[in-house]
Amino acid sequence: MLWEEALMDDHTLTVIDNKTGKRIELPVRKSTQGPGAVDITRFFGETGYFTYDPGFLSTASCHSALTFLDGEQGQLLYRGYPIEQLAERSSFLEVAYLMLYGELPTQAELDAFTYIIVHHSMLNEALKSFYRGFYHDAHPMAIMVGVVGSLSAFYHDSTDISNPHHREIAAHRLIAKMPTIAAASYKHSIGEPQVYPDNNLSYSGNLLNMMFSIPCEKFQLDPIAERALDLIFILHIDHEQNASTSTVRLAGSSGANPFACVASGIAALWGPAHGGANEAVLNMLQEIGDVKRIPEFVARAKDKNDPFRLMGFGHRVYKNYDPRARIIRQMCHEVLEKLGDHDDPLFELALRLEEIALKDEYFIERKLYPNVDFYSGLIYRAIGIPANMFTVMFAIARTVGWVAQWMEMIGEENQRIGRPRQLYIGPTRRDYVDVKHR
Ligand code: CMC
Repeated sequence: MLWEEALMDDHTLTVIDNKTGKRIELPVRKSTQGPGAVDITRFFGETGYFTYDPGFLSTASCHSALTFLDGEQGQLLYRGYPIEQLAERSSFLEVAYLMLYGELPTQAELDAFTYIIVHHSMLNEALKSFYRGFYHDAHPMAIMVGVVGSLSAFYHDSTDISNPHHREIAAHRLIAKMPTIAAASYKHSIGEPQVYPDNNLSYSGNLLNMMFSIPCEKFQLDPIAERALDLIFILHIDHEQNASTSTVRLAGSSGANPFACVASGIAALWGPAHGGANEAVLNMLQEIGDVKRIPEFVARAKDKNDPFRLMGFGHRVYKNYDPRARIIRQMCHEVLEKLGDHDDPLFELALRLEEIALKDEYFIERKLYPNVDFYSGLIYRAIGIPANMFTVMFAIARTVGWVAQWMEMIGEENQRIGRPRQLYIGPTRRDYVDVKHR
């Protein structure tokens, strides 16, 4: 049975045009969990109106079987599994398999998948000269957008999107190469030699090794840092139709190759209202600088005439509590305790800010809780990852979600290019006036 039939509800929504009296019946589609959706595909044809929903506050842009989140309940499920269970019992690559293939892997499947990812982690050597073209203090996210976009020029043997095998190889390559690309971006920015991947290390252990080891010294991988990074990566894998994922889907709907689509996702992720928030949190803490100045900044955040917002607080969908924040908060306190520089004033400042904002009426009333980015930035800092790499870390993990969403979309029958409508408010038709008469 087609999904359209399977998810058709047994009632309709009636819309009446109060001007003309015309009634139309709109079919309602069921979800397996959460709100259903009124199907408005025939709406324009039957009424002559578009629907208007800037910011997609009420619009489902697609159907998806990957991630479910309930903002009121503070619930997040990957393929039906609660994020709390995956965070406690699973690993990043196991969850990546779940997202790509729909089920948790058997041990043999996980071993085979791990082998594939590990053996795709090297970069084409020619890419090194590409890095050399970037200015030494280029932001690593700028490098990521460029390098990931360029992958289609290096791996065009996996860009036939109509071929499921090509799609799968491209997905594996993206997941496997992302840490290598990220670490190389970092090494470029600090003028150190790039480090090759080590096939004996875990996904996050390998990233830490490529970021922090140098050829002249033996690198000691810290198991707490490795586990913390793996946990952050699991929490960031996917988050439904957020801005970057929607960007990947929209780019992919035109038939663009997956490397180009993921590059567009990285660009969208960079903004401070999305993935750039974790870096913005650290910048904000630095700007506050001292615990004594917290009240001043909290007052600014509440002032309608001041554009300042407390970065790392609030969420578009979680209006109760971000379940990822609850998990990561615990890890954050553990990491700060064991790895944090106890003299670093920023950690004390962050914990005081968290305390004050959680008690403040303004934040309680608007349900503005610390989100996942508030804590991930602090963990990264304790591990020694610089602030300009924070969003890059997010991009590594989210690549799994992007490719899983992209594969889900491209695998559909009758997949069409995404093409939103608009409410035009510009000038009506007018005639060109020659420059000398203007
Ligand atoms: N500091 C102070 N006030 C805030 C904040 C904040 N961080 N966030 C929202 N508000 C206020 C806002 O001024 C508004 O007040 P009022 O009702 O009096 O006009 C009310 O809370 C609702 O805000 P909104 O802008 O309508 O909420 P939104 O759902 O459009 O925005 C958000 C969500 C995440 C963009 C916003 O909360 C924000 O800018 N937060 C800081 C940036 C941040 O941490 N972003 C990371 C999000 S989590 C990562 C991810 O999943 O991508």
